[in-house]
Amino acid sequence: MAKVRIYQLAKELGMTNEELLEILDNMGVEYKSHASTLEDETAAAVKELIGEQRLAEEAKKAEEARKAIPHRAPVVVIMGHVDHGKTSLLDYLRKSRIAEKEAGGITQHVGAFEVKVASSSGTAGTVVFIDTPGHEAFTSIRERGAKVADIAVIVIAADDGVMPQTREAIAHAKAAGAKLIFAANKIDLPQANLDKVYQDLMREGIVPVAYGGDAEVLPISAKTGQGVQDLLETILITAELEDLRADPNAEAVGVVIESRVDKQAGVLASLLVQQGTLRVGDYVVAGEHWGKIRAMTDSEGARRNQTGPSTAVQVLGFSELPSAGTTFEWVPDQVAAKEITEERRLEREASAAAPEVNRPRNIADLLR
Ligand code: GTP
Ligand code: MG
Repeated sequence: MAKVRIYQLAKELGMTNEELLEILDNMGVEYKSHASTLEDETAAAVKELIGEQRLAEEAKKAEEARKAIPHRAPVVVIMGHVDHGKTSLLDYLRKSRIAEKEAGGITQHVGAFEVKVASSSGTAGTVVFIDTPGHEAFTSIRERGAKVADIAVIVIAADDGVMPQTREAIAHAKAAGAKLIFAANKIDLPQANLDKVYQDLMREGIVPVAYGGDAEVLPISAKTGQGVQDLLETILITAELEDLRADPNAEAVGVVIESRVDKQAGVLASLLVQQGTLRVGDYVVAGEHWGKIRAMTDSEGARRNQTGPSTAVQVLGFSELPSAGTTFEWVPDQVAAKEITEERRLEREASAAAPEVNRPRNIADLLR
């Protein structure tokens, strides 16, 4: 093969002769002019260098684009063994949230609620809690494969320690890639034993911060509220490390977290928006069902015209019940909504005719 001339290589690499000559100067390559030929090894070295530079530039641009996307609030699910205090913790969080509001408006069950966290240490922000304890939420959502929660708070009663469903919760949350935070609950009880909780966790291969590891274990009381602020701040710090972001300008995408039929209103669906902004008037598809959003209500009971990432709203506009756990997405119009859902229905019918593959489903599906 003929040796390549500098101007030929410049053209091949999409750069000017001057740019290439400068690179050759920096490499200490000697030449007479841009018409000089290059040794094969030199040409290969130049190509490699340019390739690396371009990759680095692309990575930098991708990183800049990512950084331009705003942060979003973490979505948290509460899990743990029977009677360890999941519902009590949710109730406490809900109450403290309501108490903060001066007007104390009527709250609405939309499947998730927000807690605003103020703090002296500079950690301030919003945390979104899925409104039902993990196993209940999972039971209704497990049929589908949506990822809902970023963080799982594993509640462990400090008078009891790690129990079978604690292990189950840990396993599922881990498998789903959610970050784990442990709440050693009922710390107000005289028989509460924080060290036992630590030791039990060690036996599960989880090393608490107190023992030099990286697992956050926060002593709390869902009854008195002791430690709950620390738990909220730890959630925010964990979320910050996760660098959760979502583009509010994207097309709305999210998960159906609940749905039911109201005798008067008709089909009510609770949607968690994960990306983009959902607006009244938008068309969305969820599995084989579609809807045109006619009205939206937030967890404070307020009517909304639009809602962004990491918020949950109850919407009117589906004609049939979309299943909990189904992902939903924005579509441009009714034609698209009808065609997409019809396609899915036909696909399901076709695969139903084929022999069924029975895949095990579990609560990890919710988080995945
Ligand atoms: P299941 O939904 O049945 O799995 O239970 P759960 O995890 O939701 O527990 P729940 O919140 O219902 O609490 C179980 C019992 O523990 C209730 O009697 C609560 O009042 C009590 N409890 C929960 N948290 C605390 C706490 O921090 N301190 C004390 N003393 N009791 C608590
Ligand atoms: Mg409960």
